[in-house]
Amino acid sequence: MATDHAIHAIHAMRRNYQIASLDESSAHQNPFEQFKLWFEQAREADLLEPNAMILATVDEQQRPMTRTVLLKGFDERGLVFYTNYTSRKAQHIAHNPQVALQFLWLPLERQVMITGKAEKLSTAESLAYFLSRPKGSQIGAWVSQQSQIIPNKNLLLTQFERMKAKFQQGEVPLPDFWGGYRVVPERFEFWQGGENRLHDRLEYSATPATPDAPGGWTRQRLSP
Ligand SMILES: Cc1cc2nc3c(=O)[nH]c(=O)nc-3n(C[C@H](O)[C@H](O)[C@H](O)COP(=O)(O)O)c2cc1C
Repeated sequence: MATDHAIHAIHAMRRNYQIASLDESSAHQNPFEQFKLWFEQAREADLLEPNAMILATVDEQQRPMTRTVLLKGFDERGLVFYTNYTSRKAQHIAHNPQVALQFLWLPLERQVMITGKAEKLSTAESLAYFLSRPKGSQIGAWVSQQSQIIPNKNLLLTQFERMKAKFQQGEVPLPDFWGGYRVVPERFEFWQGGENRLHDRLEYSATPATPDAPGGWTRQRLSP
């Protein structure tokens, strides 16, 4: 049967990871530095959309849902992406700001998982990014009521033309329903595929500041 054959083919798919290793002596103590290094290496490796990341949220019944968004900024405060503030993901975040992010850089045999709290960017930050986008994307943001049910695609195209005419002159204003989120990390995990399934996993957990010591990060190795 064709299905049997297909299943057989899938379970025989196997790859031994051996490009690189990740060890405590060379990994940064600071997870932001480590992320910066790996992100630069993903960029240099000419991967398609190295800044694409899976964002997981939960709905009001704690059912998880994932989708891809693009990383548009990164520093010690967190990881930034932009979206529609009325979308399904935004509704999830409003109810529960705890989210997870995942980068999968397969040609490098790497994944990075981050969990933390998502918070809205200031209007000034969102505006600065919005103004840097191509005009077509700016108009697209006005047109899309992201995650709402629509009767057909034609409606979108008609509204796009209407908005294009409306904003023909001058700059397209920032919609009040559109902007960024910053995910403030509480945990990072860096995963490097290893031979014989003995993968490297380094986990960094945020330690809160106390009256006697500033906050920081602890690092531990996890079994593959
Ligand atoms: C490669 C890729 C990049 C994407 N980047 C974004 C993004 O930066 N922001 C966004 O809102 N949606 C982005 N999307 C679309 C989302 O995956 C998703 O369909 C949309 O945000 C609606 O999700 P929601 O209904 O869960 O809110 C991207 C999709 C892909 C495949």
